[in-house]
Amino acid sequence: MITRHTETKAHPFITVICDNYTTREDLEASWGFACLIAHGGKNILFDTGSDGVVLSHNMARLGIEPASIDLLMISHQHWDHVGGIYAILSARRDLRVFVPRSFSVHFQEDMKRYGARIIDVDGADEILPGLFTTGELDGPVKEQAALVQTEAGTVVITGCAHPGIVRIVETAKKILPKDDIALVMGGFHLLHNRDDEILNITERFKTLGVRYAAASHCSGERARKLFSRQYGDHFIALGAGSTIGPEHLK
Ligand SMILES: [Fe+2]
Ligand SMILES: [Fe+2]
Repeated sequence: MITRHTETKAHPFITVICDNYTTREDLEASWGFACLIAHGGKNILFDTGSDGVVLSHNMARLGIEPASIDLLMISHQHWDHVGGIYAILSARRDLRVFVPRSFSVHFQEDMKRYGARIIDVDGADEILPGLFTTGELDGPVKEQAALVQTEAGTVVITGCAHPGIVRIVETAKKILPKDDIALVMGGFHLLHNRDDEILNITERFKTLGVRYAAASHCSGERARKLFSRQYGDHFIALGAGSTIGPEHLK
């Protein structure tokens, strides 16, 4: 039986819902990414994974009610990030959905049939107090990342990082120059990179002051291994079911 929770249930700051990896046997691992950001009394869903069935299954297991989602942010229009959109929109009408400006007009129209209120993201912006979008960044695929201001510093959340993971971190630093970067998490898209290229990226991370790294989804096994080696106990092996609170970012 699924335990039902009310909208007031306090979730950890970040809960990974969908990922290629899983940290719990009762959750499905599937190619893609989705996480819940609980911030300022709001529940923000960042991406929706590749499959609405998996998204719904994992949300139920994690005690996250679709009705409790206040806002949806989609990093980019790839199947493994938008696959669960209708599972959410059908359960949660009139949802505000922040998408990169280049998002397909037809896709946007389809979402509106579920009452979705679409906000096209262009430049960097503060979506809610302390929650920012990097804006739509150019790349092989245009993409936005989320920045969350926490007591520990900025948390950067990426979908696939197609514009480049270092470029996303540099953009975060430009948007919030006074804040340290506590954590960079999500897909780093380093599947096809050589070891020396990945090690250059870990060095750039350190130069930019990134304290914790959590490479998952499309980061690739080598990147997970090399980030783990370079970051030691400041590497978080992220997967579905991972929860991150301020206590993990000291
Ligand atoms: Fe992806
Ligand atoms: Fe992608």
